[in-house]
Amino acid sequence: MQLQLMIEKVKVKTFFYLNYRKNQNWFKNFHYLFEDKKGLEIGGPSKIFQDNILNIYELARVIDGVNFSSNTVWEGVIKNNVYNYAENKQGTQFILDGTDLNQINNGSYDFLLSSHNLEHIANPLKAVEDWVRILKKDGVLLLILPDKRYTFDINRPYTEFNHIYTDYKNNVGEDDLTHVDEIFRFHELKRDNGAPQDRYKFKERCENNFDNRCMHHHVFSTELLAEIYYYFDIEILGQRFIEPYHKIIIGRKK
Ligand SMILES: C[S@@+](CC[C@H](N)C(=O)[O-])C[C@H]1O[C@@H](n2cnc3c(N)ncnc32)[C@H](O)[C@@H]1O
Repeated sequence: MQLQLMIEKVKVKTFFYLNYRKNQNWFKNFHYLFEDKKGLEIGGPSKIFQDNILNIYELARVIDGVNFSSNTVWEGVIKNNVYNYAENKQGTQFILDGTDLNQINNGSYDFLLSSHNLEHIANPLKAVEDWVRILKKDGVLLLILPDKRYTFDINRPYTEFNHIYTDYKNNVGEDDLTHVDEIFRFHELKRDNGAPQDRYKFKERCENNFDNRCMHHHVFSTELLAEIYYYFDIEILGQRFIEPYHKIIIGRKK
């Protein structure tokens, strides 16, 4: 019995190690897109860009940051002007909503990163349109979204492209609360450590979303992400799942 358990543990460890190496090798094909380049990150910094798979903080020359507020649930107080994204790595911090990068000129960056942020945005097409605008030609758009199968969104339906397209055409604002009832019904609260575990306090937090931005407005499938890239004529270079719950998509502005 003991031996059986040990064999199982070794199998699981080997599986994770081999996957880790495969993911690392996969991303090595894209290093040249970030090496010595200037990027912008929306809603960072992100641990995932420091690790040994998506080691973009190490590869890039400099990265600037955008966040919607100078005090967030995730980052606490954000110093104006300075974006400290890793040890001894500094860029410029902008306090701007991700849907309106009005202080940033067209074609300013070689790449744009956003990890676990687009699902917090009520009008994702409006945001991505602006993200593409500030990229240079051939600039790279790398997004990471949660894979609902491994998160508290597991019971929610995937968002359809038509839905976000209608939001875009109607210029839906970041104060939109359309999804609160759906979230209240389907959100798996016990998987969400950061949220109040009392359902009514949780709902109250959703209703105050414009201030805290904790809510996942939409749930992204691999297909929905691809449709967004096609809509903005971004060539998809790669899409991949990375453990434990990251959906990665990398594309290039044509
Ligand atoms: C779930 S956290 C992700 C943090 C980090 N990127 C990571 O992957 O661990 C969401 C981030 O997006 C930011 N954010 C949420 N809505 C935003 C918006 N409309 N514009 C800019 N940033 C936003 C939050 O303040 C936070 O920094």
